[in-house]
Amino acid sequence: MCGIVGAVAQRDVAEILLEGLRRLEYRGYDSAGLAVIQNGELQRIRRVGKVKNLADSVAENFIGGGTGIAHTRWATHGEPTERNAHPHLSNERIAVVHNGIIENYKELKADLQASGYGFQSDTDTEVLTHLIHQFIDQGLSLLEAVQKAAKTVTGAYGTAIIDKQNQDEMVVARSGSPLVIGLGIGENFVASDQLALLPVTSRFIYLEEGDVARISRKEIEIFDKTGAKVERKVNLVDAKADSADKGEYRHYMMKEIYEQPTCVRQTLEGRLTSTGVEKGIFGNGFEEMVPQIKNVTIVACGTSYHAGMVAKYWFEQYAGVSCSVEIASEFRYRKFYVHEGSLFVSISQSGETADTLAALRLAQEQGYLSSLTICNVMGSSLVRESDFNFMTRAGTEIGVASTKAFTTQLVSLLILVLTLGKHKALASEAEQAICAALMQLPGKIEQALLANSEIEDLAEEFADKHHALFLGRGDQYPIAMEGALKLKEISYIHAEAYAAGELKHGPIALIDAEMPVIVVAPNNELLEKLHSNVEEVRARGSILYVFADKDAKFQSDETQRVINVVPTEDIVAPIVYTIPLQLLSYHVAVIKGTDVDQPRNLAKSVTVE
Ligand code: G6P
Repeated sequence: MCGIVGAVAQRDVAEILLEGLRRLEYRGYDSAGLAVIQNGELQRIRRVGKVKNLADSVAENFIGGGTGIAHTRWATHGEPTERNAHPHLSNERIAVVHNGIIENYKELKADLQASGYGFQSDTDTEVLTHLIHQFIDQGLSLLEAVQKAAKTVTGAYGTAIIDKQNQDEMVVARSGSPLVIGLGIGENFVASDQLALLPVTSRFIYLEEGDVARISRKEIEIFDKTGAKVERKVNLVDAKADSADKGEYRHYMMKEIYEQPTCVRQTLEGRLTSTGVEKGIFGNGFEEMVPQIKNVTIVACGTSYHAGMVAKYWFEQYAGVSCSVEIASEFRYRKFYVHEGSLFVSISQSGETADTLAALRLAQEQGYLSSLTICNVMGSSLVRESDFNFMTRAGTEIGVASTKAFTTQLVSLLILVLTLGKHKALASEAEQAICAALMQLPGKIEQALLANSEIEDLAEEFADKHHALFLGRGDQYPIAMEGALKLKEISYIHAEAYAAGELKHGPIALIDAEMPVIVVAPNNELLEKLHSNVEEVRARGSILYVFADKDAKFQSDETQRVINVVPTEDIVAPIVYTIPLQLLSYHVAVIKGTDVDQPRNLAKSVTVE
């Protein structure tokens, strides 16, 4: 989704802005631009396509100057063209970059047009730009103009504004779209994601909802939504841990798949011993609340939603609490009933997904016992606004298709299951068995990764396919869904997942030799049922790819290819079986030559509705 970078410095900032944009590329975008105040004039360059196009133009037309803003745009209002790309200018005096959506832009546009403002683009952002200019024209300072504009617009924004007549400062504002200020020495920065600024600083201030800040080289003044001047905490971020480097890998996605054993170790560290969960890991007061928890409501989107679906099986089987799982964009727009003693749990890699955040805010008004977020990004909106948080510690995930964030979410959810179960239905032997399985999990993932070259060979058979079906039962059903999502996301092959028992109620009609069927088959109590489902498919001429435990009694032959997966404890099998499905979608995408890390039309972090 859109990205913002801004700087106020004594040195030329164009290269810092471009590097910031490169580091935000993973979020998804279709055009990019920057504006810098050079010798008292605004110099702006915008290009459709990759940041590289913009960087090439900047290199050809040297742009000097210490105050500037830059943007990657993911089109919402107006198609992805140069004239719709940010920054937008008003009267060649002020430049604006903006993430989010101004909802009342039509009314404001009509008023501004009536006041003589001409529009160059189809964007809602240009409305904000002229509005700020109009307030400056009426005698307000840049800061006052932005504060007044913030009160006039409705919708979501993270925005940064520069004024050529006031070239030593930048004003930024946040409401519904994240912004972080990076503190330098004699220079300061802003970005929509701290990752953009890690080459220049490790000290960050996360702006709160409704904040407006005036940033100069030496000073930062922050005003809250009431206009009162406030101090916000400075956070130190370990830049090394957040390396955005592909290392030896061709794609971030592959690097992130291979990082999973390490990431899982990080998730477990200090939280689990071989006999049980450590105390206090969900924050002060959480465990005291556990006896009151009777129900868990999980809300999330995309891959994070699949993690929630797996956890439903776990909560009800091991922790003795009922659990419902819902897609955030649905939850936020329906009337729901809150059972007594319900804990609201949001799951999110980014912590900024607009629908999940809106669902949390709604839940906070609806009588839930408390809210917990399972999240990968420290300081993100979900983390700051939830009562409790549990960090997945996967490290920055760059590939749009989520991999290590998903498996660490599952590990985190299992730790939550243990914590709840301890006070409820879980016997201590069962608790110890789950802990032992979790401790062995990094090793199991390493073993699952050994199937890489076998899966790479198998991927050749998918490259010319247009559809695929994924089947699983029990807690492997959501894993089949996640496998299908991965394949769709990066290889653009239409894929659907079904609970294997549901096959005969419709999808079986689709099965023929052109429809590969992928089955996840650990050796669990549902295995016999799954065998019957597989036979139904075989009898109809499909080619089957079965990821199975070696004891699961599946044999390779001309209609069925069996890929052995390391034997695993049932409880962690969903995590282990995720690995071959990630590898499969990766290799199919590579063979098809798609943009693996930044697939078309997708964004890493969806901060608009
Ligand atoms: C986007 C991403 C998905 C992700 C989903 C939810 O659609 O492309 O990979 O699963 O958002 O994101 P979150 O950050 O809330 O987990």
